[in-house]
Amino acid sequence: MQVHTTIQQLRAAIAARKQELRATLLDREPRVGFMPTLGYMHAGHLSLIDRARQECDIVVVSIFVNPLQFGANEDFDKYPRDNERDTRLAAEAGADFVFIPSVQEMYPQYPTKTKVVVNEITDVLCGASRPGHFEGVATVVAKLFNIVQPDRAYFGQKDAQQVAVIEQMVQDLNMPLTVVPCPTLREPDGLAMSSRNVYLSEEERKQALVLSQALKLAEDLTATHAGSITAEELRSRLESHISTAPLAVIDYIDIRTYPSLQPVETLATDQPVLIALAVKFGRTRLIDNTILNRR
Ligand code: PAF
Repeated sequence: MQVHTTIQQLRAAIAARKQELRATLLDREPRVGFMPTLGYMHAGHLSLIDRARQECDIVVVSIFVNPLQFGANEDFDKYPRDNERDTRLAAEAGADFVFIPSVQEMYPQYPTKTKVVVNEITDVLCGASRPGHFEGVATVVAKLFNIVQPDRAYFGQKDAQQVAVIEQMVQDLNMPLTVVPCPTLREPDGLAMSSRNVYLSEEERKQALVLSQALKLAEDLTATHAGSITAEELRSRLESHISTAPLAVIDYIDIRTYPSLQPVETLATDQPVLIALAVKFGRTRLIDNTILNRR
């Protein structure tokens, strides 16, 4: 596996690998799979690399803590970083190239003059709580897509709104690639895997289980009351459950169509519905979600 820190080196290395593979793949072009990450990898990231390995000929992983998607009072400086460990894990999981650019390499002029703005679906959920966040995500992902030129790009469904934003951007800007959403990986007790889980104290970690429990409750309630339970009733049941954790400070509990993120009144059975949670435990903000009636 190769590690590259400059755009020029990475592009040259991918081009050379493609050229080598063309000799063996006689009837088609080599397929490039890409997984952008903020690093500090966990099993969820590795499952995406594994999926890319199965579906593609070349697997590229980027590790870049993107300052453009962090707000002024957010955790950019203290976001956990361990490039050495990440590089080893990515190699073990089957990556061919790891790209670790500096901020200067990605943004010779910071803040960048050109930004990618996806409207409407970024006004709600995390977009409402973290103004500018999705502009930063869409901009860096567009840049990374231009650098790597993948055929398939893999994203975790834990960031369901991010997946919706990136799919919208790819569609609107005619980017020639497929976005592949991958299921959220959970710890054995249900907590969704996240690099930010390392911030949690033992007590916060224990109480954070209310998130996955609330989502299970939502799935059970909608299965038994499909077509009759209103979104407001469901929201209030989830709020009561999450509030049993004294340390939980709810940012949002929201129920929306997916991926268009329109408000929902009554839980229908024939339309994908996102149940999304964002809750703070101490200084750590966790998100989790489930998508009902997925097609
Ligand atoms: O989900 C993430 O890890 C980041 O938002 C991403 C997609 C790597 C962009 O910086």
